[in-house]
Amino acid sequence: MPDRVRVALIGAGRLGRRHAEVLASQIPQAELAAIADAHEPTARAAAEATRLDRWTTDPEELIADPSIDAVAIASSTDTHAPLIIAAAEAGKAIFCEKPIALDLEGTDAALDAVAEAGVYLQIGFQRRYDKGYRAAKERIDAGEIGRVETIRDAMRDPAPASREFLATSGGMFRDMTIHNFDAARWLAGSEVEEVYAIGAALVDPMFAELGDVDTSIVTLRFASGALGVIDNGRRSTFGYDVRTEIFGSDGALFVGQQRDTPLLQLNREGVRHDHVYWFLDLFAEAYAEELRVFVAAVADGTRPGPSGEDARAALALAYAAEASRRDNRPVAVSQFDRAPGSA
Ligand SMILES: NC(=O)c1ccc[n+]([C@@H]2O[C@H](COP(=O)([O-])OP(=O)(O)OC[C@H]3O[C@@H](n4cnc5c(N)ncnc54)[C@H](O)[C@@H]3O)[C@@H](O)[C@H]2O)c1
Repeated sequence: MPDRVRVALIGAGRLGRRHAEVLASQIPQAELAAIADAHEPTARAAAEATRLDRWTTDPEELIADPSIDAVAIASSTDTHAPLIIAAAEAGKAIFCEKPIALDLEGTDAALDAVAEAGVYLQIGFQRRYDKGYRAAKERIDAGEIGRVETIRDAMRDPAPASREFLATSGGMFRDMTIHNFDAARWLAGSEVEEVYAIGAALVDPMFAELGDVDTSIVTLRFASGALGVIDNGRRSTFGYDVRTEIFGSDGALFVGQQRDTPLLQLNREGVRHDHVYWFLDLFAEAYAEELRVFVAAVADGTRPGPSGEDARAALALAYAAEASRRDNRPVAVSQFDRAPGSA
């Protein structure tokens, strides 16, 4: 591998643009080689913002370029699986945003291509590279809170996304809770065996019209015996709300004491501080760190993850939660396992 890993960015929308900036200026070991976005003005603007003279509307052109070592995929979700397959066949290392696909079949096809090619695939579950979550995981693994008994995990967006986005997002469990499913498995160090999910449209009747929910609660039973609860919402008036409590036999860890400004104001009325409003701000460091780790892994041949199998496991939990909500009963996650011998 050369001194610097040459990475092509595919998809320069809300998140891709951020990834481009990180690759261009925050990771000395990386060289942002080119940008592809199907929407020409978006591709051009992202290239200009990162002082790059190579951009295209055709990602295949970059995937076919032998001088490019790796691709970072942040295009619309429905493009991930075909792009992963094309990049794997071209022998590129791949960073891909969640989810790999909205269905298990598409996910499995992409994972097969990755396994066949033997390339490295890392998924953008950025919480795993957030300072607070990482510290929590290290302390759990070091036994500092004893045996994990319960996990409470909340994530709420400030306000609903557009109807257009929501209509193709895959719904609450595949689009949003998928982050919580990954975090729960990772923090508990255990697979989830059973889920029970309820949901409602409390924020906007549009969600009911789309067959979706804007408020949900999922309970988890882990193979380890631990229990968990995840609650999600599409409205939080004070900003992006991400908080996790891991309770163990010998103590607890609370992750997510969010402040935009490191300032407390104390007076007769009480104590005040501000709050992080947007996900790109709350996880700014994590989005940079996950790419730094990816680039280092491509250079030194390690595979830190989260892997494609982690993405599949989280999607299987989303399927189980949807079945549970639909049928109003606990659902065994194993029914969404891959059939033996199908890989
Ligand atoms: N990890 C996270 O916290 C997080 C947060 C937001 C979004 N995401 C994921 O990132 C992905 C992008 O989300 P976003 O909010 O940036 O969306 P977006 O709509 O802002 O951007 C998507 C971009 O992809 C481009 N595109 C579409 N098809 C393409 C193709 N075939 N080739 C190249 N470019 C193509 C579009 O023109 C657009 O510019 C989604 O899969 C989403 O689930 C992850």
